[in-house]
Amino acid sequence: MNKPEPAEQICAKFAASLTTGTFARLVLSAPVAKGDAPEKILGRFIMLKGVPHLSLTLRYAARDVIQNLPVASGPAWLREKLGQHFRSALLCTTARDWQFISNEAGEARLIDHQPSAKKAPAREHDQKHAGILDASARDWLEGLGLLDRDGKLRVSMADKHRQINHYLEILSHLAKECGWIGAPDSGTASSETETETNASCQRPVLQLADMGCGKGYLTFGAWHLFRRVWQQPVRVIGVETRADLVATTNRLGKQIQADGLEFVAGAIGSAKLPPVDALIALHACNTATDDAIRRGIELKAKLIIVAPCCHKELRPQLGKPEPFASVLRHGLMEERMAEWVTDGLRALFLEWAGYRTKVMEFVAGEHTPKNLMIAAIREREPFTDEAARTRIAELKKFFGIERHALDVLLSSAAKSA
Ligand SMILES: C[S@@+](CC[C@H](N)C(=O)[O-])C[C@H]1O[C@@H](n2cnc3c(N)ncnc32)[C@H](O)[C@@H]1O
Repeated sequence: MNKPEPAEQICAKFAASLTTGTFARLVLSAPVAKGDAPEKILGRFIMLKGVPHLSLTLRYAARDVIQNLPVASGPAWLREKLGQHFRSALLCTTARDWQFISNEAGEARLIDHQPSAKKAPAREHDQKHAGILDASARDWLEGLGLLDRDGKLRVSMADKHRQINHYLEILSHLAKECGWIGAPDSGTASSETETETNASCQRPVLQLADMGCGKGYLTFGAWHLFRRVWQQPVRVIGVETRADLVATTNRLGKQIQADGLEFVAGAIGSAKLPPVDALIALHACNTATDDAIRRGIELKAKLIIVAPCCHKELRPQLGKPEPFASVLRHGLMEERMAEWVTDGLRALFLEWAGYRTKVMEFVAGEHTPKNLMIAAIREREPFTDEAARTRIAELKKFFGIERHALDVLLSSAAKSA
């Protein structure tokens, strides 16, 4: 009888480990296709309502997606993924580790190693997906009213909780891309003179500004991620026009002894800020988002994140060029197109200013159903890419746009660059 293929062998070993209780973890890596596919899939065993499941973390460049699969479907699922979607798999069991490797020609092999796990992970009870907002976030989540006094999530705040978690997952991926997490000397935190130094690892303390931070949900969240999850010194500054909100958030920060977290009263366009590594503006109204982008560029922030709110500036200017005219006669389509062009131009302006941009989906906020996020990482000298400038001009001309808030804001920056 022929020896089974390596893919069949690892699937059989996976099935056996699930039935004998020796399964520790599974990692799929080396995706066949890039683009929309996850970069990795991590699998672990959990019990959901008493039924054994595989909990799969699909790791994309900027987010994680969790999928749970009944254990019985696991081996067939793995067989489908191997070779077709992923070239590499690592199955860890308490008996042996098995590594499946295949190449572009479809040739595969299976190698075994000493087991890296001596004991199968605990699996008696359901593991709640706390995400980044683990037990150490209880004090500020309670202070902001997301949790009740018993530490239970208030039903009315479940969406907000989900939004914070999702945002922190995105932020954690972006922070890793910026090189801010990992070896102490791998950081690229701002080296400007005003920046403090983290004495333990001799690199500047990372500085983040959250513009238009409101009640501070996402500001406390960012501080929590760096300070408590990653145990890294950080300075997070929330900027907000409403003095009452600033007083409340500062009070809570003091109460939980949030070192490095502060809230200041001021406007996005003019608040005094030190050099910052990351500038964030989530759900800032209309052109306040553009003010934030301009501040981020001027402050040479390595990372700029905006999730725009209402878009009022371009709609009155938007022409109806062919072949769009027959579509844009519908008010809703015109509104969506105005949003699309506004945010598209924002991304192009950021590219002209030397940033690599990504546009992704975000969870809508309590005050706005808008769910688009632009993340930009500074990679080049600003205002040198004439092709980027031309793309902005062409898009504006096509839609008959005379003025975008970033025109004025950036032309002065370009002169001084
Ligand atoms: C919709 S809330 C968003 C709060 C928070 N960023 C979030 O996403 O949960 C917008 C906040 O920005 C503040 N705001 C609006 N325009 C501002 C400006 N130009 N400067 C500073 N704060 C501003 C408002 O007072 C409000 O608290």
